[in-house]
Amino acid sequence: MAARAPHHGSKKLVPSNSSLSPRALISLLCAISLYFCFSLFRRDAPPPPPLFHPAVASGSCNYSEGRWIYNQSIRSPPRYDHTCKEIFKGWNCIAGNKSNAVDILRWRWKPRGCDLPPFDPWRFLEQFRDTSIGFVGDSLNRNMFVSLFCALRKVSAEVKKWRPAGADRGFTFLKYNLTIAYHRTNLLARYGRHAVCGANYVDKIIGGTSGILESLGYKDGYRIDVDIPDGSWAAAPHFHDVLIFNTGHWWWAPSKFDPVKTPMLFFKKGVPVTPPLTPNAGLDMVSFVEKNARKNAILFFRTQSPRHFEGGNWDEGGSCPRVQPLAPREQWDVPDAKILIYISHCLRKSKQELTFHCFQVEHLFSIKNNGTNVETRLVNEHLYRALEGSKFQILEITRMSEFRADAHPSAAGGKRHDDCMHWCLPGLTDTWNDLFIARLNSIKVRN
Ligand SMILES: *[C@@H]1O[C@H](CO)[C@@H](O)[C@H](O)[C@H]1NC(C)=O
Ligand SMILES: *[C@@H]1O[C@H](CO)[C@@H](O)[C@H](O)[C@H]1NC(C)=O
Ligand SMILES: *[C@@H]1O[C@H](CO)[C@@H](O)[C@H](O)[C@H]1NC(C)=O
Ligand SMILES: *[C@@H]1O[C@H](CO)[C@@H](O)[C@H](O)[C@H]1NC(C)=O
Ligand SMILES: *[C@@H]1O[C@H](CO)[C@@H](O)[C@H](O)[C@H]1NC(C)=O
Repeated sequence: MAARAPHHGSKKLVPSNSSLSPRALISLLCAISLYFCFSLFRRDAPPPPPLFHPAVASGSCNYSEGRWIYNQSIRSPPRYDHTCKEIFKGWNCIAGNKSNAVDILRWRWKPRGCDLPPFDPWRFLEQFRDTSIGFVGDSLNRNMFVSLFCALRKVSAEVKKWRPAGADRGFTFLKYNLTIAYHRTNLLARYGRHAVCGANYVDKIIGGTSGILESLGYKDGYRIDVDIPDGSWAAAPHFHDVLIFNTGHWWWAPSKFDPVKTPMLFFKKGVPVTPPLTPNAGLDMVSFVEKNARKNAILFFRTQSPRHFEGGNWDEGGSCPRVQPLAPREQWDVPDAKILIYISHCLRKSKQELTFHCFQVEHLFSIKNNGTNVETRLVNEHLYRALEGSKFQILEITRMSEFRADAHPSAAGGKRHDDCMHWCLPGLTDTWNDLFIARLNSIKVRN
């Protein structure tokens, strides 16, 4: 595997001809004025803290803010490898011969102002004896669940496989009586097909409520009961001591919930919600969980996992061929000579290239751009609103993951469409678990 530069190639960004052509001069002038604009905006702000403190795990450290640092040496021994049987074939990038499958593991998350050490599976099993942990959500939560399973399985092989509380899959590490389970649910809320003849039939039984939808022109679609949990996890809150939820991808899945042909039709207390809600308004199961969770349960909601389709969506030939993370925005926060050169280089590009090279993360995710992956931040906006004032802890993994365009399975293993949504295993969700367990430990210490 060829070694790659740890940084985003600032060297290759230096303009190659050192004599200043008129065009380059104009670019440089623009760059300088741009630089002063930036300074102007910042004049009233306190001086920025140094980018990296030594490893101080201060209470104020935000594990979710930071950058990825390349380290040639891979942790040894690895937490787990491609031989872990739970890894879904499509996510096994090493076995699937993805060109950068091993390189993915060389990038380490460095939170600003502290460190996020890899969690220690032995200590974790010891500390969380007699505990049950439930992952509830879509396949991205399964991706995270498998990462945790493989890490624990590597150090403790006596495992009972079963399906606790209706889970899709679950395992108890017998020596520690620690259970982890995955409950599969796309929307969290219960849903099913809602057809016009069905509606008439249901109408007769429940007293004419569906007629409202018909009168609004809805003939066909999916009925989503926003206050009723999917059966796959309805029993999970009674069962688990720790719960980690996610949802989001299916709320923006027009191939299933076509906004015109088969829209989402929201019901609450069995009655259609009118006027109809937009999809994101439906993704709430907060009060159900709070009411039904065990007394001292620890509740997490994980933020949205970003996709990295470029050049179209998954069914439009979109792909994710990058072999390095996207450039961090922090490059703009260090006003030095290198950045000036960087900016002038950017300005010499065409408009399209400019946004592509110089604002990589924003280009893919800013809501203003309305790009292929825009749902990432839209989901989060909704989640933050829905969870405000609740008992849920928010596990913010979006920011760190937005950089990792390199860490999806892409075409590994010969798929029909590139997978730019799930993550290679081993890979990024290992870091999500480091974050999850660091947070869990801090809560346990406080209690
Ligand atoms: C931590 O950083 C994330 C990512 O930038 C941000 O969304 C979140 O609000 C921050 N949390 C706090 C408590 O500042
Ligand atoms: C890279 O990782 C190794 C082993 O974990 C560590 O000893 C070393 O300090 C790291 N290097 C850098 C530049 O962070
Ligand atoms: C990956 O490469 C190995 C060795 O070249 C080969 O045996 C194997 O079939 C390849 N796997 C896939 C999924 O292409
Ligand atoms: C095993 O752990 C569960 C919680 O996950 C607990 O309810 C049960 O009592 C434990 N069993 C034993 C034998 O300690
Ligand atoms: C965003 O793009 C989608 C599909 O390209 C389009 O249907 C939608 O109207 C756009 N939304 C906004 C706010 O521009």
